Amino acid sequence: MDEKNQKSAIVNQQSLINIAVIGSGTMGSGIAQVAATAGCIVKLFDLNQEALSKSKNALEVSLSKLVEKEKIDSAEKSRIQGNISYVSSMKELADSDLVIEAIVENLEVKRKVFSELEELVSKDTILSSNTSSLSIASIAASCKTPDRVIGIHFFNPAPLMQLVEVIPAVQTSNEVLEKVVQIISDWKKVVAVAKDTPGFIVNRVARSFYSESIRIYEEGMADFATIDWALKTEGGFRMGPFELMDFIGHDVNYIVTETVFTAFYFDPKFKPSFTQKRLLEAGFLGRKTGRGFYDYSKELPKPTEDKALAKAIFERVIVMLINEAADTLFLNIASAKDIDNAMTKGVNYPKGLLAWADEIGINWCVEKLDALYNEYHEDRYRCSPILRRFKVSGLTFTTETLNLKS
Ligand code: NAI
Repeated sequence: MDEKNQKSAIVNQQSLINIAVIGSGTMGSGIAQVAATAGCIVKLFDLNQEALSKSKNALEVSLSKLVEKEKIDSAEKSRIQGNISYVSSMKELADSDLVIEAIVENLEVKRKVFSELEELVSKDTILSSNTSSLSIASIAASCKTPDRVIGIHFFNPAPLMQLVEVIPAVQTSNEVLEKVVQIISDWKKVVAVAKDTPGFIVNRVARSFYSESIRIYEEGMADFATIDWALKTEGGFRMGPFELMDFIGHDVNYIVTETVFTAFYFDPKFKPSFTQKRLLEAGFLGRKTGRGFYDYSKELPKPTEDKALAKAIFERVIVMLINEAADTLFLNIASAKDIDNAMTKGVNYPKGLLAWADEIGINWCVEKLDALYNEYHEDRYRCSPILRRFKVSGLTFTTETLNLKS
């Protein structure tokens, strides 16, 4: 499709804007597909020609599957493909309205790209990063006009996951924040606005799912298979923590934990585990290497299907998740609605954690956390002040924050 036809093909779309995506790896390719599906003209830039060809092929495969499943027709497939061009020079991005960077997770490399980019684009172009763990403020500081820099954090796979965290830095203008929330909502994604703090919402709150489960294993309370089974049957989680960590890969999951722990000035709540670190050191990265917590070359172990044990495991993990979600609200990282949406739409939790707290009972949560704290005397089990206040006042998240204030 030539450029004129391309433009006319999207004339009825809401988002008539030029998008640039930098980095055509896993995330960049997915983000380009999302924007092109929404009717934007997308330029996908990568320094590596092979990465660009791989991305183009991956899009063909992904869209063909959608045609097979009758989710889109072949005209729609051609329209989406026609909206994306693959470029190997940054200069081609000069006319972009919004740039989304999705290159390697390295601050110095990102800062260099942002400062070069700023020289090329117009003064109104919004510059964003898909970083999962770097501070947006530190990326924005590489630009002469940092008020147009913002975090736009998609989840993998970007075309399927509904959530996008939007993270204004201290430098970001309100106008840029409002525009970005509008654009991403137009792309039919659920936006959760988060403060520029380590792990934003999802990668902060979800740490407890992994770390408390590993702790339960380390104490000898249950094996991996039993803990996975307990959280699926008692909690309704789609995957157990050990299956999920093996799926994500320990090179990614452990490093995120370590980064969040370091970034929080070594708050013991976020302490990584030696159990997972040793897997990483051994090269047992999970499914991709055939071995992680589980050895995928053998028949997988069966859980001990003990209902009382399952309940005890679930209670310990859910209360830690709720505590972190509550603290995220207490510290004004995000609204209650955005915190609950983040966990259901970003990592497919069966319920929002704050709504879950109300369902289980705030009193029970406080008592459980206090019992854990009294038993272990470890700071990781300290109860969030907001839970304690709600217990005293009889308030609930559903009435106070989920419905009324957000
Ligand atoms: P990836 O390794 O699949 O892709 C990165 C791409 O960037 C590669 O194709 C590489 O050739 C290209 N690249 C590197 N330096 C470049 C430069 N200076 N200019 C142009 N292209 C360059 O990485 P992935 O997994 O897509 O991650 C990208 C970003 O998204 C990272 O910041 C990561 O933390 C973040 N992220 C990753 C998620 C995931 O599940 N993989 C989820 C959410 C965020």
